[in-house]
Amino acid sequence: MQPNLDFIIGLCRDAGDIIMEGFGKKQVIEYKGPVDLVTEYDRKSEDFIMGRILSEFPGHYIVAEESGNKTGSEDHRWFIDPIDGTSNYARGLPIFCVSIAYERGGERVLAVVFDPNRDELFTAERGGGAFLNGESIHVTETSEVIKSLLVTGFPHDLQQENNNIKEFMRMIHKAQSVRRLGSAVLDQLYVACGRLDGYWEVGISPWDIAAGTLIIEEAGGVVTRVDGSKDYMVPPYDIVAANPALHPKIREELARA
Ligand code: IPD
Ligand code: CA
Ligand code: CA
Repeated sequence: MQPNLDFIIGLCRDAGDIIMEGFGKKQVIEYKGPVDLVTEYDRKSEDFIMGRILSEFPGHYIVAEESGNKTGSEDHRWFIDPIDGTSNYARGLPIFCVSIAYERGGERVLAVVFDPNRDELFTAERGGGAFLNGESIHVTETSEVIKSLLVTGFPHDLQQENNNIKEFMRMIHKAQSVRRLGSAVLDQLYVACGRLDGYWEVGISPWDIAAGTLIIEEAGGVVTRVDGSKDYMVPPYDIVAANPALHPKIREELARA
């Protein structure tokens, strides 16, 4: 048995309701690292999503941020980020979303992301285009770095050598500007729907990129690793995404940082 887009849309909307119950309230916070936190609603959202997937598709493999891997058939893999943008969520800052992708036979085929603050539902089925609330979306046509509004993020551990600081310093001078919204998934979706021109990030995780990158590709964008290779769904995870004209130029600038 295989899922369809409607099943995943239902999961994301219901998980969105769960997290909005806690939004704006004082959060019970646990720390996974000095600046890497998790709230009880990350866990509630993830438990709900995993429970529903496993009751419908008991043998499937699940890669989920808070509970680790639930092993099963690798022909059917799910990637779940129950709240992307937890640091925002925990402070009442309305920039976060629920992200789910489904992979069949090693290829991601379905992606759904729901932003409950703006009631924005982003969807893609491989080969079928990308949509925001049912309307077709596309990446921009901006072809010059100086005219582009970019977005990035930083790894939780800034002590690591590859921490994106040098690259950020360079790009903030080379581009129109660079945003840091605190939700990698929304960063990617805003590239997909043309609100932003390009995104790059290093030190991310598969649940941060599985859905958003399929949606970008279906919106006409190009996604690769920072070094240009195409296998961005294997560790260590780092990506650059933009329209086909801008993508190589962003990579070129990053390489010079
Ligand atoms: C984080 C956010 C952030 C990105 C981090 C992610 P989380 O995800 O997407 O923008 O810079 O790398 O870990 O922890 O809020 O799900
Ligand atoms: Ca995340
Ligand atoms: Ca998360």
